[in-house]
Amino acid sequence: RTVDWESEETGKSGYDHYMLKEIHEQPRALRQCLQERVDELSGTVDLGDDIADAVQNAESIQLVACGTSYHAALYAAELFRSQGVPAQAFVASEYVTSPPPHDDDTLVVGVTQSGETADTLSALRDAQRRGVDTLAVTNVVGSTAARECDGVLYIRSGPEIGVAATKTFSAQVLAVNMVAAVMGNGSASHEFVSALRDLPGQVQTVLDETNAREVAERFVDSDAYFFIGRGYDYPVAMEGALKMKEISYKHAEGFPAGELKHGPLALVTANTPVFAVVTGETGSEKTVGNVKEVEARDAPVVAVTDGRTDVERYADEVLEVPETDPRLAPVLANVQLQLVSYHVAKQLGRNIDKPRNLAKSVTVE
Ligand code: G6P
Repeated sequence: RTVDWESEETGKSGYDHYMLKEIHEQPRALRQCLQERVDELSGTVDLGDDIADAVQNAESIQLVACGTSYHAALYAAELFRSQGVPAQAFVASEYVTSPPPHDDDTLVVGVTQSGETADTLSALRDAQRRGVDTLAVTNVVGSTAARECDGVLYIRSGPEIGVAATKTFSAQVLAVNMVAAVMGNGSASHEFVSALRDLPGQVQTVLDETNAREVAERFVDSDAYFFIGRGYDYPVAMEGALKMKEISYKHAEGFPAGELKHGPLALVTANTPVFAVVTGETGSEKTVGNVKEVEARDAPVVAVTDGRTDVERYADEVLEVPETDPRLAPVLANVQLQLVSYHVAKQLGRNIDKPRNLAKSVTVE
């Protein structure tokens, strides 16, 4: 089933930028992504027989993607591993350069908003040439990836005009959560299905209550921005940094929280805020330990947190997110970081919807 988005929805609807409009469209995009796929009464997730067969038969999964979609793929790999399925995410151009070994039951999943990114298509074609089954997770109906892959899962976000991907990242994360549920025969716990259903409303809460603009104002003149997280928060840290560099043109880097002390800490000063993404429970206490190390070097700390740890005690600013299932919390944390980047870029007068040197869809390798 596909969703038609009215042509009026490709206008800016009173927002200053498409990016801001698309950030605000996330609750609706997520609802569309869930529609008729999740049944709360029976606690089941249904993505159709083709996808069920493909993922249930897969003994291992390789994900290929670029840019923001690569961060969704990193997240997906961790999620699938937590289901007991060996899974790894690859930057598509590297996958092509050095294809990893596979066996008969490997599934290659291409995560691509547009379905047209040359590097990702090339990686998918490479897999197909080697006889490996492929699945596209994409937004664009009838795109090249959708047509060429053995299976397709649409994320149903509607058109995304801003070059920087926002709502499609959230929908990709939601979609791969549904895939993970299907791996377990389509039956999810009642709690998890409720958490899926509640996610769009929680994104709305973040949008309504965010203090991201104040945080952006406070740190707009910083030399650089660092983002740390571990586990499911790590792809969010990477994505937070990517969004910041794409639209503000400021130096920004994301690191696994544990790696900070192995080099990047040398860059940390009183003028480099560190955004610490701390949600869920796994490893969060250790990230709080890393935050203390940063604080001891006088760097301002912005905690993006669901309040399950005492990280707020060591933070100069807090971007709060509602509590949810740890697998879904990264979506909420990421919305806060989207907004921080947006407001930093806006205050710097950047061309937010069409950043210099970047294209929405890159069709060369
Ligand atoms: C370009 C865009 C990025 C995007 C990447 C992958 O570089 O500027 O925002 O994440 O392509 O795009 P895809 O359509 O494959 O998700």
